[in-house]
Amino acid sequence: MAHKILILLSHPNASNSVFNKYLVDINKNSPDFCFHHLDKSKVNGLFDLEAEKKLLRESKALIWQFPIYWYNSPASLRDWQDQVMSPIVYSADNFLKGMPVRVVFTAGAAAEHYTHEGLNRHTAEEMLIPFEMTANAAGMKWFKPLGFYSCGPDMPKAALEKAAQDYENSLLELL
Ligand SMILES: Cc1cc2nc3c(=O)[nH]c(=O)nc-3n(C[C@H](O)[C@H](O)[C@H](O)COP(=O)(O)O)c2cc1C
Repeated sequence: MAHKILILLSHPNASNSVFNKYLVDINKNSPDFCFHHLDKSKVNGLFDLEAEKKLLRESKALIWQFPIYWYNSPASLRDWQDQVMSPIVYSADNFLKGMPVRVVFTAGAAAEHYTHEGLNRHTAEEMLIPFEMTANAAGMKWFKPLGFYSCGPDMPKAALEKAAQDYENSLLELL
């Protein structure tokens, strides 16, 4: 079945995840969403290019979802961009052109640290500029990132439920 929104999950430690796991578990049976775990999709460090292309072709919109690791995505999403996006974008048939894309991230630090005055000295949107530039270079339609802060192992249930609602709304906005 063709899913509408393809969510590429980059999480090298998915079995210990709380926040990303919650968002995935609560939505995994939705007919609108297709969750694809990048860290589980590589064999000997390589993606199956044809399988990845097929998933993309079947989707109307794309989500890059990950926990922030050292102010970036974990490595599997960067690998995916290098191995999967590059040959598509530099081919005569760049079918990513026009496709909506949004980053959804979780961060351990509090929102106040992602400000010019805060510990990190930059906003999350500034931190994610390389993703925006990548989307732009691919001709994709960039949507503002959705971020969740202070994500630790002891998240209150109410915070997770509120996040799940924001998450679903934000994903469906891409259609
Ligand atoms: C190796 C590593 C690097 C991290 N780097 C950052 C960081 O740069 N900024 C930040 O806010 N949180 C950082 N964190 C915290 C994670 O973003 C946080 O644990 C995660 O988003 C929680 O989501 P999860 O429950 O799905 O794993 C880091 C965590 C690890 C393990």
